[in-house]
Amino acid sequence: MSSKAESYKKNEREMWDQFSRRYTDVVLPEFRQFGRRLIELAAIRSGMWVLDVATGPGEPALTIARRVGPRGLVVGVDFSPTMLRRARARARAIGVRNAQFHEMDAERLTFADLTFDRVVCRFGLMIMPNAERALAEMHRVLVPGGRVALAVWSAQSKVNTLGIVRRSLERHDAFHPPPGAPDFFRFGKAGAMERALRAAGFRHVRSECMTAEWVFNGPEEFWDSMKRGPSLRRALATVSPAVRRAVKADVFRSLAKYERNGRLRIPNEAVLALGIK
Ligand SMILES: C[S@@+](CC[C@H](N)C(=O)[O-])C[C@H]1O[C@@H](n2cnc3c(N)ncnc32)[C@H](O)[C@@H]1O
Repeated sequence: MSSKAESYKKNEREMWDQFSRRYTDVVLPEFRQFGRRLIELAAIRSGMWVLDVATGPGEPALTIARRVGPRGLVVGVDFSPTMLRRARARARAIGVRNAQFHEMDAERLTFADLTFDRVVCRFGLMIMPNAERALAEMHRVLVPGGRVALAVWSAQSKVNTLGIVRRSLERHDAFHPPPGAPDFFRFGKAGAMERALRAAGFRHVRSECMTAEWVFNGPEEFWDSMKRGPSLRRALATVSPAVRRAVKADVFRSLAKYERNGRLRIPNEAVLALGIK
């Protein structure tokens, strides 16, 4: 792994640590529908052992814990210790006892080969610089016949909340991803997710697209919410007040077409993919 990718990961880990509270309160509920479908695709049954990679504050791990029941086990891993503290607190709050959470880099899992019946990963893979390595690790820890089910963002033009902001930053030459950063939208290219799964050794690979709307009470609420998120905050910190104003005006113009009855309803598309070992 290049030193650029390692330093990117170190910064990302700190960023997710800082963002964990807001993520848990604001972002997590928006991902529920994607999680439900991912669990269906994974065909999780009572008694199974399931690994949730990049679990953040414990999803979909904690939803799956109920499904596998007391004879099953869910293990959530993430490289952000603060996210994992939230996952453990959420597990305690809802009385889940069959879930464990461990600090771990998804690109270097410390589990033995053939440990899990299922592996899931919701909105984690596309932010990993070496996603190929992470997929190979998921394959290694699965039992033969075990399934992986993944959710990643689709193409930038279809992930509108992030896409609108990214395009406005690009137009004003204000989008400068840190060295070593992967393209979050790379698995939105036709066939990209399937190819990556096959390259990692998975069979019977298939994928589907799924869209969910995020609702905001107008452009100011949208801007405020995105500004507190890591990518816009990072970008705005490096530009002049004039560019900041221009980016904001540009974002507001792009939002107009999503306005209905005084609210913004913004569709975001994800790719959900499945493979069998
Ligand atoms: C968008 S959040 C997704 C969290 C959760 N799975 C969900 O769907 O709400 C991405 C998570 O990936 C974690 N992450 C990113 N790269 C990672 C890596 N290389 N190893 C482990 N965790 C990673 C971050 O710490 C963060 O918690």
